[in-house]
Amino acid sequence: MAGCQNNPGKQTSDIKMNLTKELYGEVDGKEIFQFTLKNENGITVKLINYGGIVTHLLVPDKNGKTEDVVLGYDNLPQYLGDTPYFGAIVGRYGNRIAKGEFELDGTAYKLATNNGPNHLHGGVKGFDKVVWDAEEFVFPEKAGVILNYLSKDGEESYPGNLDVKVTYTLTNKNELKINYEATTDKATVVNLTHHSYFNLKGQGNGDILDHHLQLMADRYIPVDQALIPTGELREVKASAMDFTTPHSIGSRIAKVDGGYDHTWAVNDFDGKKIRLAAKVTEPKSGRMMEVYTDQPGVQFYTGNFLDGSLTGKQGKAYNKHSGFCLETQHYPDSPNQPDFPSVVLRPGEKYETGTVYKFGIEEEGNRCRGKASCMLEHSSAYSVIGDW
Ligand code: BGC
Repeated sequence: MAGCQNNPGKQTSDIKMNLTKELYGEVDGKEIFQFTLKNENGITVKLINYGGIVTHLLVPDKNGKTEDVVLGYDNLPQYLGDTPYFGAIVGRYGNRIAKGEFELDGTAYKLATNNGPNHLHGGVKGFDKVVWDAEEFVFPEKAGVILNYLSKDGEESYPGNLDVKVTYTLTNKNELKINYEATTDKATVVNLTHHSYFNLKGQGNGDILDHHLQLMADRYIPVDQALIPTGELREVKASAMDFTTPHSIGSRIAKVDGGYDHTWAVNDFDGKKIRLAAKVTEPKSGRMMEVYTDQPGVQFYTGNFLDGSLTGKQGKAYNKHSGFCLETQHYPDSPNQPDFPSVVLRPGEKYETGTVYKFGIEEEGNRCRGKASCMLEHSSAYSVIGDW
């Protein structure tokens, strides 16, 4: 449905967005396409319907110079090989479930243990490794792709046929919006997220330790050696986890065993409201990214397990800390933590959540309103899903 069929009143000339689609390869006899979305301000997003992977995200800097700010690969065969979830949709349960075990309505479920003793990111073949059906759309101020996947009852040992829809939308306000929806025919657990590794200097241009981060979170979730929550929500105050005011990522990372790989409990969670969760700036380029979500948490991961062994786009080697992830989600191991917000989805209910990655320019701590190079039109809040 490329074009303007969904908006018959509009003339083609009103359309400020651009969307193209190219064959990218084939998996299991199914065609994989790469969709290219462009807005008027020089932002380009490329994504594929294998794993729902965002392969490229081009963003101008304060001088209008564009860089690709996500890590990834140049072609499909590489994505079919070893990848630490570059750019992918992660599910059915993003993050870890201790020992791969949980109980729901009196039935014990045993999932794959694909991360030491624990279950990680949906198992051996999670949503990052499946082919999604895809349908594109273009409106005057936004364009995107709707991805659909039916995860069968018993897939990766999860209960229930889960009908999943993920919509990626690029807007003319420099937002990449991700809307997740799901329904089930049996009680199950769901926690979907997106796994882009960002580097606002451009992928392969060094590490992210000099980026400045602010997290709108007074508490985080301490974990054990295997990164399973202890059950506590701890105040960040006076610790290396305190990003309530902006800090460079590298300034205190040495105090955190292994680097940052934790969930922060984003303030002001009410299950509905989309609020600012994180803001990252890269001082030299001026690029800025804000993350808005309705989810209770955000996993901030500093690419600690990247070790230079993966060669990414344009032959760039990805070393430790060459990208960071901000994965909006429920807390890890929620199926086993009665005090954490519930991740159970039941027949008749609808799982519906939204996250926005919004790009702009910030120079020396000041918003550059009025400058030609400044793309940002700051929007302080998204009230509820559907509002956007
Ligand atoms: C996790 C890391 C994990 C990585 C996989 C992140 O979401 O928090 O612990 O290694 O995904 O690449």
